This record gives sequence, C-alpha cells and structure tokens, in this order.
Amino acid sequence: MTADDATARLRAAGCVFAEDEAALIADAAGGYPARHEALLERRIAGEPLEIVIGWARFAGLRIPTAPGVFVPRRRTELVARLAIACAPDDATVVDLCCGTGAVAAAIAHARTDARIVAADVDPAAVALAASTLAPLGCVATVSDLDEALGHLAGAVDVIASCPPYVPTAQIPLMPREARDHEPALALDGGPDGAAVQRAVLDAAARLLRPGGVAIVETSEDLATLTLAAAADAALSARLERDAELGAVAVVARL
Ligand SMILES: C[S@@+](CC[C@H](N)C(=O)[O-])C[C@H]1O[C@@H](n2cnc3c(N)ncnc32)[C@H](O)[C@@H]1O
Repeated sequence: MTADDATARLRAAGCVFAEDEAALIADAAGGYPARHEALLERRIAGEPLEIVIGWARFAGLRIPTAPGVFVPRRRTELVARLAIACAPDDATVVDLCCGTGAVAAAIAHARTDARIVAADVDPAAVALAASTLAPLGCVATVSDLDEALGHLAGAVDVIASCPPYVPTAQIPLMPREARDHEPALALDGGPDGAAVQRAVLDAAARLLRPGGVAIVETSEDLATLTLAAAADAALSARLERDAELGAVAVVARL
C-alpha cells in the first residue's frame, strides 16, 4: 500500500491529520503489509490513533498505551510541569489516578532524585503504568484513591493528579473515540463533574506533609468547584493555566 493510498483512506474516514497519521501507522507496522492493513482498518473503524500505534506523545516522551486505558492528553503536561517545579529535593511524589503513568514518567525523567508512586483503581491501567515506570525506578499500585497508600500518610511532598472530571450527563456528548474506547471510570466525574476531584483533594489532605502541594487538573467550567473542594479539604489553592495547551490546574497547599 502506498502512503498516498493510506492517506486517502484515512481522509475518507474523517481523519483530519490523515497524512501524519498515515506516516505514524506505517511506522508502527514496521514494514509488515498485513500488520499495516490491520492497523489502518482499526483506525478507520474509529479506534484512537494512540491506541492503534501503541504510544502517545507526552512531555516529549513516548508513553505506551493499551486498549481500555485512558490516552494521556497533551494538556495534562501542565500538571506534570507544575509538579516538577514545586517538588523539593528528594521529594516523595504520588501520581494519583495515574492511567498509563504518563505524569509519573514525565516527573521521573525530570527529577531523578524523586521517589514516585503511581496509583490507580483500574488494574489494567496499573499493569501498563508498572511496565512503563519500573525502568524509571517508580512503583505503580492498585489503589482506590489513597486506600492502599496508608504508609505514605503525612509524608508526601507533591501529589499530581488528573482524575476523571466530565459531568455524567456530558459523557454521551463526547467524541466517539473517547466514548467508545475509553472506560467510563476514566471519564465520569459524577453529576457535577467534580466528585472525584473532591475525593482526590480529601485524599491529598491525608497524604501531604505540612506545606506539601496537590496539583489537580480541572477545566474552566469546573475551576470554581475544584477550588471550593480544595478549601473544603482545608487546603489553600490557586489556579494555574496554560493557554497554549488549553489546560487549567488547581495548585492546593496543605
Ligand atoms: C482522566 S484519566 C487520567 C489518567 C492519567 N492521569 C492521564 O492523565 O493520562 C483518570 C484515571 O483515574 C482513574 N480513577 C478513577 N477513579 C479512581 C479512584 N477512585 N481511585 C484511583 N483512580 C481512579 C481511572 O481509572 C483513570 O485511569
């Protein structure tokens, strides 16, 4: 199959960046025609590109992906960047709701002195994160919020978190790629979107040492609720934004 053929088929299927995607899919096929065709068909059928090719770009890294695990978004680089900036030397860092472990991996690359624990309630996400993070010296563990992190209570310097924050009623309005290929557990933020953010900030109040910081991704629509959740957890919080990434995060200090 020529690159032009692949591009034309992807374009006909509605892929906006058809030429770029065709090149990435050809690269992932590694020169095997049958594999090339299979990957192309999966993409044309609507699977996210990052799942089809097996990796997502995040903070300059190639983060391995897997079917059924949330694909890390570029906007979440803000959370990783803020965590890197505020971690003291030899910090203990928790990536709570870690998914693929992209945030933990970005922090580990920038701060080799940090002790990093990644946690997620989904065993499939933790298995993927563990294989990505083990070579970086980080641990990944199955945990419903901080349930399995009791040993870190009061000892964490930085919590970096991108929890689910889509209001339940808005999930049917999301792009098909997300609705059909990412688990509801990774998207659903409850009736107002902020339910898991609240739980994360409550967990942060238990995990952080005095002066420690929790960084939680949010959206413009939810920012007021996320700030209120931080205040309810007795954390003093401010907003940080990155207009280029379209990213908003709450930075909450104990
Ligand atoms: C929006 S995804 C983000 C994943 C990752 N942080 C990233 O940015 O790619 C949210 C993640 O939160 C996890 N999650 C949802 N509820 C959780 C809970 N109660 N405890 C731990 N993880 C949870 C989901 O399994 C999912 O992997």
